[in-house]
Amino acid sequence: MSELKNDLLLKALRGEAVKRPPVWMMRQAGRYLPEYMQLRAKYDFFTRVETPELACEITLQPIDIVGSDAAIIFSDILVIPQALGVEVLMEEGKGPLLPKTIQTQEHIDNLKTEGAAERLDYVSKAIALTKRELNGRVPLIGFAGAPFTILCYMVEGKGSKTFDKAKQFCFTQPHLAHQLLQKITDATIDYLKAQVAAGADCVQVFDSWSGMLSPVDFNVFALPYLKQISDALAPLCPVILFPKGSWYALANISNTAASAVGIDWTVTPEFARAQTKNNITIQGNFDPIKLLLPIPEIKKLVKEMIDAFGAQRYIVNLGHGILPHIPVDHAKAFIDAVKEYHNE
Ligand code: CP3
Repeated sequence: MSELKNDLLLKALRGEAVKRPPVWMMRQAGRYLPEYMQLRAKYDFFTRVETPELACEITLQPIDIVGSDAAIIFSDILVIPQALGVEVLMEEGKGPLLPKTIQTQEHIDNLKTEGAAERLDYVSKAIALTKRELNGRVPLIGFAGAPFTILCYMVEGKGSKTFDKAKQFCFTQPHLAHQLLQKITDATIDYLKAQVAAGADCVQVFDSWSGMLSPVDFNVFALPYLKQISDALAPLCPVILFPKGSWYALANISNTAASAVGIDWTVTPEFARAQTKNNITIQGNFDPIKLLLPIPEIKKLVKEMIDAFGAQRYIVNLGHGILPHIPVDHAKAFIDAVKEYHNE
């Protein structure tokens, strides 16, 4: 494996001293890039995900165009339901649709757990190819959805503002919910291990909907499974957990085997540092909508954000994914502001 020329991300994850913090953006390969839109016009979503050459090309786009300090493999969290035998459609512009939702014991028994990770071999191929093409320029992040967030889609069948049906399933049939969460967890651990074996330098687990849960319910339906995943992966590579909206869980998350926790913009740097002590690196938390501000203002806000979090044990990122209407030069200004950072 080629040595990394830029290992800022891995240093920040290990808690080592850095001259400036690393920066990348969630959903950095996506619809705000004209180069992505060109491939999107030619190939449907899962063709882009399942073809290693296309996934590799899309993964590299933000490295070449905006200059992030890390690449994240182009894929989707919903490949896990697919690997478990559940149909997932991506309606362009509308989001995911799972026509047959999980509701009963029989549905859970029928999930194809055997060989699930192997069915995602195309992701390993995309990772190996991307590592070769990156040639050590920056680290490569692997990822998966967190079990609770995957349950949300498998039970609800589509995106939702409140995920009422998924929560109803958890609260009224906890026995079934835990069986489903465990099956997702087992497949996810195998899948993330395969990503590391193929060359991922670290992994991020996206719990996009955990903030829908109360603190008590988070400890029942989200945390135990995040813990299993971080315990299984931490011996192999640094793990970043992103339980979006779950500001109340920061102390508990900081006591897992994970190296970093992602936070959204509703959390202050002071609160996040106080909750996590110095146990864990913090990642975040620029409001993606603020990338619409004039470039000098973006740069000023980024500098203030780094000053507030501190440059050590910190990874600059957005508080959630970048949006399609963000101008590319604004995204680049966000990255450049971090590269220009020095603490007077
Ligand atoms: O970050 C990256 O650049 C890597 C690629 C990546 C995608 N999805 C590609 C994608 C990652 C890390 C994801 C994760 C993902 N997918 C999450 C967790 C992160 C988050 O945003 O909370 C979730 C909840 C999903 C499920 C999903 N996939 C939704 C809800 C949608 C539709 C909404 C949307 O943003 O369009 C997708 C589609 C999707 N996944 C796109 C991309 C680039 C857009 C597809 C397109 O129209 O081209």
